[in-house]
Amino acid sequence: MPLLQAAFFCLHADESFTSDRLYSVAPCNHVLLSPLLLIAYRTDALFDMSQLPFLPFSKPTIDEATISAVGDVLRSGWITSGPKVQAFEAQLSEYFGGRPVRTFNSGTCTMEIALRIAGIGPGDEVITTPISWVATANVILEVGATPVFADIDPVTRNIDLAQVEAAITPRTKAIIPVYLAGLPLDMPMLYAMANKYNLRIVEDAAQALGSSWDGERIGATGDFVSFSFQANKNITSSEGGCLVLNNAEEARLAEKYRLQGVTRSGFDGLDVDVLGGKFNMTDIAAAIGLGQFAHIEKITAHRQNLARHYFKCFGSDFEERYGAQLPPPDFENSNWHLFQLVLPERHDGLPARATFMEQMQAQGVGIGYHYPPIHLLSLYRAQGFKEGMFPVAERVGRLIVSLPMFTAMTEADVERAVAAVKAVLKAG
Ligand SMILES: Cc1ncc(COP(=O)(O)O)c(C=O)c1O
Repeated sequence: MPLLQAAFFCLHADESFTSDRLYSVAPCNHVLLSPLLLIAYRTDALFDMSQLPFLPFSKPTIDEATISAVGDVLRSGWITSGPKVQAFEAQLSEYFGGRPVRTFNSGTCTMEIALRIAGIGPGDEVITTPISWVATANVILEVGATPVFADIDPVTRNIDLAQVEAAITPRTKAIIPVYLAGLPLDMPMLYAMANKYNLRIVEDAAQALGSSWDGERIGATGDFVSFSFQANKNITSSEGGCLVLNNAEEARLAEKYRLQGVTRSGFDGLDVDVLGGKFNMTDIAAAIGLGQFAHIEKITAHRQNLARHYFKCFGSDFEERYGAQLPPPDFENSNWHLFQLVLPERHDGLPARATFMEQMQAQGVGIGYHYPPIHLLSLYRAQGFKEGMFPVAERVGRLIVSLPMFTAMTEADVERAVAAVKAVLKAG
């Protein structure tokens, strides 16, 4: 029986989250956890967690008010894009300082549409990072442009702007920076480069809703900014995304690209003058998004607290003792979408990450990995990319893992995850 099926649920013990019933149903680990955890902390030895509920790496939390709002939409007679989508866009726009925002059915088509609005296509080069979900590079291919990768910074794991500058050619038209795990890039440096070389920026902020840079919310400034509401994100609409745009004209074009290029006029006027697709968000998804978005500040603060607790539990000597690399301890800018470790290499011939994931699973703790280097996927190898081109990305992409991090997690869950990591890695 998969471990997940053994999970049980009860009223969550975290008062700050039960007060508004947002997190009324959540995995409860506390009762069974403590004695075993203490043993684990003392010995760092592998211990039997098989009787504990599985701690997933991620899981969405949907409150009763949202479930009820979805029911209202289903009963309303209007289930595709309608008033809920409009309301969601209005709230997002307010959140981003009044900039135009349009919603879509993914955080992938958002980027494709931004590239189309910018007029990017065949013959143009777009620079991005090899360490992202493959969507980031696929959209460049979708519009017929050429993806160009630049290596990442080993500390932030985001694209290295010095490498970006070195990759710029006369054909470069745009950069798609990715804020991995919710940690943004240095915005003034990014936009100084965009201005210097006259480049468009499509920020892949899929993971960065609630993040900021130097006090400025991601999305409130910049060029195109794309967010995802896919199920694992800090807030979800089950699937979906939004694009922050620069002006009304871009917003009008975004609306056309998301629905077959259609413009309507009068009672029966309809024309198509650009090739659009079918990318609209439904009111069902928007109702979920609205219900989640109401708690964005609390969710971000909770994740930041969980991240702080991770650091506390790992302790200041963790990297030296275990040879693994923690993320940068940024509690100002990051929304802590993910808490990622870069594992040490193994010297016994076993694959470091797969072995770690398997052993963590045996400990009852789910592990994700974000991401394998894009340039080494078959589709991209077929375009001439190969090993050795981006050595930092290749090492990080082979060894990076994401520890459990989700809204309903508690500090006790963090303690359990850290104990399991230490037990699996063992001090060197
Ligand atoms: C960095 C990054 N870019 C793009 C995407 C694509 O978003 P979506 O799954 O909503 O299309 C994701 C989602 O997983 C992501 O994490």
